[in-house]
Amino acid sequence: MSALIEKLNWRYATKKMDPTKVVSEDKVERIVEAARLAPTSSGLQPFEVFVVTNKDVLARIQEIAWNQAQVTEGSHLLVFAAWDNYTPERINHMFDLVNEERGFTNEGWENYRQMLLNNYPQRDAQVNFEHAARQAYIGFGMSVAAAAFEGVDATPMEGFDPVKLDEILGLKEKGLRSVTILPLGYRAAEGDWLVNLKKVRRPKDQFVSVVA
Ligand SMILES: Cc1cc2nc3c(=O)[nH]c(=O)nc-3n(C[C@H](O)[C@H](O)[C@H](O)COP(=O)(O)O)c2cc1C
Repeated sequence: MSALIEKLNWRYATKKMDPTKVVSEDKVERIVEAARLAPTSSGLQPFEVFVVTNKDVLARIQEIAWNQAQVTEGSHLLVFAAWDNYTPERINHMFDLVNEERGFTNEGWENYRQMLLNNYPQRDAQVNFEHAARQAYIGFGMSVAAAAFEGVDATPMEGFDPVKLDEILGLKEKGLRSVTILPLGYRAAEGDWLVNLKKVRRPKDQFVSVVA
């Protein structure tokens, strides 16, 4: 079995973490870096990651996250927040950054920028947010895999009130909306009902179709 697949079998949606254990900053950095390196539609990277360690803030988040204990038992909480809309400024910022970093402009690339500018900002903000949120999920998935690779336990979570989380973190003012959260920590030695249960997935023949 490849090392990555082995780690993906090891990981599970941890239900109880040991609150005395702290994930090291270098591991957290690599877990976040995996999200930053995620591919996104048109390379717009329309999401940000917040790393929350403040105990008071974590306690407030737990209250609006179905009281899920991992939020405060983990040492770090990653919050994936997507752009609330696509604006010309946001699109131009990313295209300008690419030109600046690569040191040249390209006609095809500039035509592509115009195509996005002529389409995205005019669309309904909710449609744009949902598109951005799908990109946030890609980063989220990368962080889930990276945590496993680092031997760090994590619980992917949608079980929270996004409007309330946005209020706690002041996301609306930043033009962001929370999408998913990911507590990071280490599984508790006892008391996790899921830890020893078999990982269940549909068999390959119900999941993969080969079109050769
Ligand atoms: C987007 C998403 C949201 C989830 N939300 C929660 C959640 O709020 N609380 C929780 O305990 N597990 C949550 N899960 C975990 C899933 O239930 C779990 O990943 C799934 O049952 C497969 O089990 P495994 O991750 O242990 O292999 C979520 C998973 C994903 C991908």
